[in-house]
Amino acid sequence: MLAGDPASLSGAPQAPPTTLVIFGAGGDLTKRLLMPALYNLSAAKLLDDRFRVIGVDRLDGNDETFRQKQSDTITGFLADRSDRSAALDETAWTWLRGRLAYIQGDLQDPRTYQAIAWRLNESAQDQGQANCVFYLAVADRFFGPIIDHLAAENLLREGEAAFRRVVIEKPFGHDLASARALNQRILKVLDEKQIFRIDHFLGKETVQNIMALRFSNGLFEPLWQRDHIDHVQITALETVGVESRARFYENTGALRDMVPNHIFQLLAMTAMEPPTSFSADAVRTEKAKVIDALHPLDPAQAVERVVRGQYAAGTLRGQQLRGYREEPGVAPDSHTETYVALKLFIDNWRWAGVPFYLRTGKRTHTRKTEIAITFKQAPYALFRDTPVERLTPNILTLHIQPREGASLQFSAKIPGPVVHLGGVRMDFSYADYFGSSNNTGYETLLYDVFTGDNTLFQRADNIEAGWSAVQPVLDAWAADRGELYPYSAGTAGPIQADRLLMRDGRQWMKLT
Ligand code: BG6
Repeated sequence: MLAGDPASLSGAPQAPPTTLVIFGAGGDLTKRLLMPALYNLSAAKLLDDRFRVIGVDRLDGNDETFRQKQSDTITGFLADRSDRSAALDETAWTWLRGRLAYIQGDLQDPRTYQAIAWRLNESAQDQGQANCVFYLAVADRFFGPIIDHLAAENLLREGEAAFRRVVIEKPFGHDLASARALNQRILKVLDEKQIFRIDHFLGKETVQNIMALRFSNGLFEPLWQRDHIDHVQITALETVGVESRARFYENTGALRDMVPNHIFQLLAMTAMEPPTSFSADAVRTEKAKVIDALHPLDPAQAVERVVRGQYAAGTLRGQQLRGYREEPGVAPDSHTETYVALKLFIDNWRWAGVPFYLRTGKRTHTRKTEIAITFKQAPYALFRDTPVERLTPNILTLHIQPREGASLQFSAKIPGPVVHLGGVRMDFSYADYFGSSNNTGYETLLYDVFTGDNTLFQRADNIEAGWSAVQPVLDAWAADRGELYPYSAGTAGPIQADRLLMRDGRQWMKLT
């Protein structure tokens, strides 16, 4: 794993020579994340001289037009950055630009794969290296077919000194059955260690920091269990709406898009037992165990403990926002949820009885991803004869984005002759200590693929455990059980989500 700040990025050893074949090279992911991340890796001198990229897409183009398009994009990417001081590192970009090539082809056509094989052969002869990573930055319906075509062309066979790896974007399946079927299909032609199922949340520094915080400090871990923790809240809310992704989102919705993957990764990092090492299998085994231990929701709980919402028209910072059903490409009677809140329990010795409240949604008034761990109240007896009416709970909040850091809330005496308590906060901000990073989060993930480190990628059982936990909810909704509640764009979500916690005498963390 690479550390994300630029200084430590450049301290890592160079990745082995690799040809990166990107399927979907004309798409948004390549433009917004992969190319900027490769550029950052190039600037940090982490790519071998024999590194190559072959973009594959059905759009017309050739090596030169592809290079030009990527040049325009990278300039735009730098111009958009809040840190305007960083100009294009011409040397790093020229180095990478000269290594880009393009193949125009249909993903269902065997000739596309023959063209890839030919190019790979050519570079194997010219440069004496045959390592290859196939990156599937395409719609999920292509995952199985692409891998079958690669196998048919014999492109997945690893040689003695050559690796072949496949990176698969999310969504990995649409439910438990389809995820299982896809795993079975690809595991016929690939070994598990060749597969890198990506979850970009794991590229975020603050997500990786959860393990560091828990396991490298003596302070937290002894308290990290049901005797001391009252409940845990995981929030991933966004101000953006569906944007131009209606085609994808209409069939996906907030639950599938965020919960079995991103949110469960946060939950697993927070709740798993300490792994015996940082090795990929040790970490992934602990994660799978804790997701497996999620209490299976019965049909009644799949309705009572879950709230689904859809944004209606509203305003955000004075701007009128349309409702989800008015968004381009969305059905006027769409039942797709843009918000979901869940209450789950983990059936193990560490967590039994501690509720985990999860919420994720689009078009809320604030963008925030965080994990808040609320500790049990101190006994009140001592304060009975004072004006203190109740004690403030201790809350440890891990801020994932946009403000990266951690804070601890506790009580302090307000100065004065009478005992009054005030809730105060100790704050740690990444930027204050380590400076701000220009990374996209994909640098570390790509570097890990090139170096063969699967730790931050999902194993087949991690994926299936996640789908298995949400399957009762998908079943309930498919049977038309469970209301879909509207909420105004620019609010915190449906009021019913507040009630989910109020029933338990709790409330969501404030969003500001
Ligand atoms: C993606 C989802 O995986 O994650 C999007 O498909 C969501 O709907 C995005 O907006 C959130 O990621 P981030 O890094 O912007 O929080």
